[in-house]
Amino acid sequence: MLVGSKNALPGMQLHYQSLVTGALPLDVAIEVVKIVEADETDHSVGLGGLPNEDGVVQLDAAVMDGRTHNAGAVACLENILHPSEVARLVMERTDHVMIVGRGAYEFARSHGHPHVELLTEEAREIWMRWKESMSEQDDRLVPGPDTRQGRAASPEEAARLARLDRYLVERVTGTIHCSALALDGNVACTTTTSGLSWKIPGRVGDSPQIGSGLYCDGEAGSAGATGRGEAAILAHASSACVELLRGGMAPLDAGLEVLRRVTRQARRAALWQPGLVDERGVPTFGLTLYVLGLDGRHAGVNLLGPGQYAVADPEGGPRLADLVPLHE
Ligand code: GLY
Repeated sequence: MLVGSKNALPGMQLHYQSLVTGALPLDVAIEVVKIVEADETDHSVGLGGLPNEDGVVQLDAAVMDGRTHNAGAVACLENILHPSEVARLVMERTDHVMIVGRGAYEFARSHGHPHVELLTEEAREIWMRWKESMSEQDDRLVPGPDTRQGRAASPEEAARLARLDRYLVERVTGTIHCSALALDGNVACTTTTSGLSWKIPGRVGDSPQIGSGLYCDGEAGSAGATGRGEAAILAHASSACVELLRGGMAPLDAGLEVLRRVTRQARRAALWQPGLVDERGVPTFGLTLYVLGLDGRHAGVNLLGPGQYAVADPEGGPRLADLVPLHE
């Protein structure tokens, strides 16, 4: 079966059958996320991902194989379409676990990955609107109604710009995670992202960090995270879920327990960064965990409010299921 973030559904619909007919779980998980890595309309992963504050798309990704208990990761990778495949090359073709930045790019190129411009025209436009709207104290101006751009805006263009501006209201931390469990009990997972929009160049999120954005163990299960990477890193969220599975907890209980831990940690962090929790002590950021046990039980849990995750199993095939929120 497959469990992952909501944006994994199209990939699951395409590739679930290959898992059923015996493909390796790692192969299937990577094929699932590659659909979104190459989808320029998803502004949180791969091509079309929102860039860092300098306008450069820097990708993070990791893979982990429960059968061999091995993993590979890349961080701050530029100009390569499929970071999940490069992460797999790190795992399978080196004695390292993570390669970053220029070294990761050269490594990918030396394995035949082509150089690709990942900043799409729409992502560039959103980035420039962010720069222009960031502060009234700097020299960049939001185009007003009397500018050439403002005067020319047709109703369709105005609607398009309003759609782009939604990315300015809340920073994108979206990501794609997929965990896969084969009929023979082997488990594997991958997480891939363009990371936090407008991040400081060189910032590494949770997605490529083994134990934070993903973790699996052939003796216990698999888990992954999407949302605020810093919170997942500080809680070691994915390995924490898998360790609770190992101790006998059900996936739902394990995920909720880790989110309770994240909540307590956020309250302490709010001593120096007050915006992290609201007046009720509830975190103001998003974090979603996907948890898959070796017995096929699974859960998607959300720090705050409702949502959905993607799942594919023999009973219902690929579909969306409801996340269980910790805080309403
Ligand atoms: N979870 C993705 C990131 O924070 O980079």
